[in-house]
Amino acid sequence: MALLLKTEAGRGDSWRRALLAADPGLDLRQWPEVGDPADIEYALVWFPPKGALKSYPNLKVIFSIGAGVDHLASDPELPKGVPIVRMVEPGLTAGMTEFVLMSVLYHHRFMLDYAEQRRNKVWREIDQVPPWDRRVGIMGLGVLGGDVAEKLVALSFDVAGWSRSPKDLPGVARFHGPGGFIPFLNRSDILVCLLPLTAETTGILDARAFAALPEGAALVSVGRGPHVVEADLLAALETGWLGAATLDVFQTEPLPPESPFWDHPRVVLTPHVASLTIAKTASEFVIDNIRRHQAGRPLLHAVDPDRGY
Ligand code: NAP
Ligand code: GLV
Repeated sequence: MALLLKTEAGRGDSWRRALLAADPGLDLRQWPEVGDPADIEYALVWFPPKGALKSYPNLKVIFSIGAGVDHLASDPELPKGVPIVRMVEPGLTAGMTEFVLMSVLYHHRFMLDYAEQRRNKVWREIDQVPPWDRRVGIMGLGVLGGDVAEKLVALSFDVAGWSRSPKDLPGVARFHGPGGFIPFLNRSDILVCLLPLTAETTGILDARAFAALPEGAALVSVGRGPHVVEADLLAALETGWLGAATLDVFQTEPLPPESPFWDHPRVVLTPHVASLTIAKTASEFVIDNIRRHQAGRPLLHAVDPDRGY
């Protein structure tokens, strides 16, 4: 059994070290030095070239280096019937929770306004809002959204979540399905998007969705760029209906130099770094899952091909 590794540029060596620490006997083949394609039974990949994974006739499981699997699902030549496992590991979850808490607190405490005041040398208080009067809405209550919700509740925010199926999380107002979407948006002063990218969620944050938010709401977009109709977001920011946005993911990445978001005064922008997979903890998850698979036990966090996540 060999594991194929194809990481982001520059990260291969740290992954190699972490995987071999988790399993010193591992037969690891680092892209593009693959050897005999017939040896490859498992693949751990981030953005493999389209069509590349069909070259391995004995491939049994594809592990995504990220939580999102849209980089695999968009490959029309992905081998059929090979299970895909998304990344679930404590480093990725902790990183996302940190990033979202930082962003929610930033907007909650008017830091964009204070930055603007500072540029103009204005010394002025803005009324403080207690967290229980700030309604935070989380789109996606899975591994990442669920952890974010729990920590926001611990900070006393008024938290709601929206998911496909009903979810019971302590202290979180629940909304689900298309019928729950607009009522959920209506009570989201700060909206966090932590959905996977699927046919159903592409373009979900459009003019209609922004119009359903309370006036002056802030968006924290950390799922995937194509969730947001960028022209509609820009229009909502221009009219002031949307007060601010933290944008970590974009329709086109890297963000083109001509994008108006780079210089927008109401936008906080980061280069798709809300959370990164941590090689050490992720390798433990992958090796454990390979052992489960070899022992005939069900894989953990396999993607449901019908749902697409
Ligand atoms: P997950 O555990 O699979 O959770 C997905 C959540 O979204 C679930 O609650 C699911 O509802 C909900 N959902 C899916 N489709 C929906 C729909 N059509 N309507 C309403 N709710 C829907 O995923 P995760 O591990 O939390 O990761 C979420 C996403 O975060 C990833 O797919 C990735 O795109 C993004 N991400 C971004 C970064 C970054 O650095 N920016 C880092 C990591 C991940 P159910 O509970 O009913 O199934
Ligand atoms: C990063 O974007 C991920 O999906 O883990």
